[in-house]
Amino acid sequence: MQNVFPEDFLWGGAVAANQVEGAWLEGGKLPNVTDSLIGIMNKNPSVIWDDKQGIWKLNLEKDRAYLSHEAVDFYHRFEKDIKMMSEMGFKAFRTSISWGRIFPRGDEETPNEAGLNFYDRMIDTLLKYKMEPVITLSHYETPLALVAEYGGWQNRRLIDFFDRYATTVFNRYKGKVKYWMTFNEINNAFRMPYAAAGVIKFPATDPSEPITTLTKKEIYQAVHHLFVANALATKRMKTIDSAAMMGVMCSFSSLATYPLDCNPENIFGAMEFKRNSYLFSDVMCRGHYPGYVKRIWREENCTPNIEEEDLDLLSNYTSDYIAFSYYRSTVFSKDAEMRVDTGGAKGFDNPFLTEKAPEPWNWPIDPLGLRYVMNELTDRYELPLFLVENGLGIDEVPDENGHILDIERANYLKMHLEEVAEAIKDGCEVIGYLWWGPIDIVSAGTGEMKKRYGFIYVDRHNDGSGSFKRLKKASFNYYKQIIETNGVDLTINF
Ligand code: BG6
Repeated sequence: MQNVFPEDFLWGGAVAANQVEGAWLEGGKLPNVTDSLIGIMNKNPSVIWDDKQGIWKLNLEKDRAYLSHEAVDFYHRFEKDIKMMSEMGFKAFRTSISWGRIFPRGDEETPNEAGLNFYDRMIDTLLKYKMEPVITLSHYETPLALVAEYGGWQNRRLIDFFDRYATTVFNRYKGKVKYWMTFNEINNAFRMPYAAAGVIKFPATDPSEPITTLTKKEIYQAVHHLFVANALATKRMKTIDSAAMMGVMCSFSSLATYPLDCNPENIFGAMEFKRNSYLFSDVMCRGHYPGYVKRIWREENCTPNIEEEDLDLLSNYTSDYIAFSYYRSTVFSKDAEMRVDTGGAKGFDNPFLTEKAPEPWNWPIDPLGLRYVMNELTDRYELPLFLVENGLGIDEVPDENGHILDIERANYLKMHLEEVAEAIKDGCEVIGYLWWGPIDIVSAGTGEMKKRYGFIYVDRHNDGSGSFKRLKKASFNYYKQIIETNGVDLTINF
């Protein structure tokens, strides 16, 4: 292929603390929201209402494996894992700092030095291997105490708690971390309010329904506080390290939502559906609430409380770049129910997309949808794009020689990179491409191990068994070849 990727293009991979680290209660860390879930779409977090104290409490289900509690033990193995990624030539590695390692409850005055020490060592290891650390401040990782005892982000006090956390890590990693994101896939707030917006019914109205009893107004309130916290963090970051950049991070598979046909109702419906996601990037990139959401607030009586200085913050501290995930596309039909999971939305089946991710996930494969999304974003915002998640989950078992020939993964990678190259030719400015889960990790959506995204296999299984041994899959050398040739040689040789 022609050389279209810039010389300083950031090739690499992305994970999240809660899906790789494990050690969920080590080094002073306390539980966060994902620690109380098996799969982030689960509407029943493992919490129970304590009427006496008026708070929610962690209440893990017996006999069920919370795989993320040990995950793939990156906490103890990160040095070797990062070395393996450097063998592929990674120029960048995205992970999150687990907020609960730094401020275990979230409301402390002073940070937990053991947690900072862990990230000192991890970030220094990345720098040793010449990888750019790309850091998310919360990848569905609001400390549980803030949710269980304060109601989470609907409570304005969380802005200050987050400010303390963000300021602490900006000061600590000044000059070391250039690319920051505040909240992973913030546009999932309505679909997964507990994980993505760290919000719960508080006090409990029906203790058996901690999430579904949330009102729209409560979620808009949480979202508003997340916006303000993001703007404030951006302000702090710029004062502490003027070279650092802050990106909005959204799940933008949902922007590849095609109307079923030219029925105006489907055209308009698809546009409205996309606005559920655009709302977040519109506020964070343009600095103000768009008219379409104000109409919803008015008509559905769900206007959040907004303080005067909030709007100044939003307008003065907008995103420097757009970080996004892309996995799949979907079709909007006024007659189909639009369901949303971690990979994006699922509406009507697209008869033109014959390739699908392997069973049982079956996400339709649509590389051109990625180019479409990148062009749409460039047209709307004219900001640099950073594809920080793209990947394919497969249930894999090594053969008797320990080999895994993951041709489907290589194909998926090739097809999507071809479209990133086209988007660059179209005029999109692209900072980098990060494969989701370069090492097998716990699935966010389902909480299982068998949905493997890695170029590196990890011997850990759904029942919690396994030696944690790492093995290179065939795609390991394929990605290495791509990075070595700066995306010129995409030929698959296996
Ligand atoms: C994204 C999340 O939505 O999708 C990741 O940011 C997640 O945390 C990824 O892992 C893939 O989803 P899943 O459900 O296959 O793990």
